[in-house]
Amino acid sequence: MQKTFSFPAAFEKSISDALCSYKLTLQDSQALAKCVQTLSDFFIAKPDAPTPWHERWAQIAYLCYYLPVNSARLSGLIHEADARQFFQDLEHVIDFGAGLATASMTLHERHPLAFQLIERAAEPQQLIEKYFPQFKAQEWLRTFSASRLSKDKKTLALFSYSLTELSDLPDWAYQCEALMLVEPATQQDGRKLLQLRQKLIDSGFHIWAPCTHEGPCPLLTQSKTDWCHDRIHFTSPQWFLNMETHLPMKNRTLTASYVLARKTAPAALKAARTVGDRLREKGKDRQMICRGPEREFLAWMHKTGIQQEIPRGVLIELPDELQKVSNELRLAQEIKLL
Ligand SMILES: C[S@@+](CC[C@H](N)C(=O)[O-])C[C@H]1O[C@@H](n2cnc3c(N)ncnc32)[C@H](O)[C@@H]1O
Repeated sequence: MQKTFSFPAAFEKSISDALCSYKLTLQDSQALAKCVQTLSDFFIAKPDAPTPWHERWAQIAYLCYYLPVNSARLSGLIHEADARQFFQDLEHVIDFGAGLATASMTLHERHPLAFQLIERAAEPQQLIEKYFPQFKAQEWLRTFSASRLSKDKKTLALFSYSLTELSDLPDWAYQCEALMLVEPATQQDGRKLLQLRQKLIDSGFHIWAPCTHEGPCPLLTQSKTDWCHDRIHFTSPQWFLNMETHLPMKNRTLTASYVLARKTAPAALKAARTVGDRLREKGKDRQMICRGPEREFLAWMHKTGIQQEIPRGVLIELPDELQKVSNELRLAQEIKLL
């Protein structure tokens, strides 16, 4: 059972309408791909540079590529968050580094909260207000500071791919009830996020996902190279697939590193999470799981006849009786997905 997500259907008409203003359509695969490639090359050459929103090619690349891909990725994470009722009682969202409001518009589809968008560039706001009328933000701001934070509202601070441009979370974010942090699934950004997770725990936050515990992260403390990331299968429309034929990157699956944290504690959970893909080895299959400070793998010997495909990033119920050999938990029967 794969976790398969797309972007909201309503986005397609809005993207198409916006592209008209550049005299382009969704069928102009090659021209669209050229803009995506230009922005991708820009970020490779200048990883710390601000997003060049003033450039026509950057706007087009965000509309036809980064908006759909990031929205599908966020849909997968919102699905995980909903499984834990993470958004319950939240009233207000601050989307920092909102860009084309990708995270807010995707969350709004399932949770129509009040959205305040912080984006230093003006162009994204203009595009969203003109071409995405289905989404109404409470307000757009160019900057944000603690003095603007409402003390009597339960606020979610949302950072989708916007921490990379910062050295730490801004101070006001530590005062919010909830945090949703999404980062590229690279080793560097992923491990930085695991360090931030520990800082959040030390500052009084509880981790709702992906962690099922609040002990030290085994991927950070027991390994110098691991980083926690989830995998989401992406179903894309034909125009997107056509555009991709002109690009080196293919997106049948999308990865993301994320942390969901709240000041309120989550309901107790007796579960583990798969944090790796299935590894096929001689005589057995193994898959990394997380349930505490130890770096552990589920393992099932081929001679048991178990043929289980467990998606990465899901919660699983472990049997009470498990044989442990070194860092492997040996399965004698299929396990239950929660
Ligand atoms: C990589 S984009 C991510 C956009 C969007 N959140 C998404 O998920 O697609 C980062 C955005 O953060 C904005 N940004 C970076 N630093 C900022 C700051 N200090 N204040 C406001 N916006 C900022 C940039 O202009 C850019 O649009």
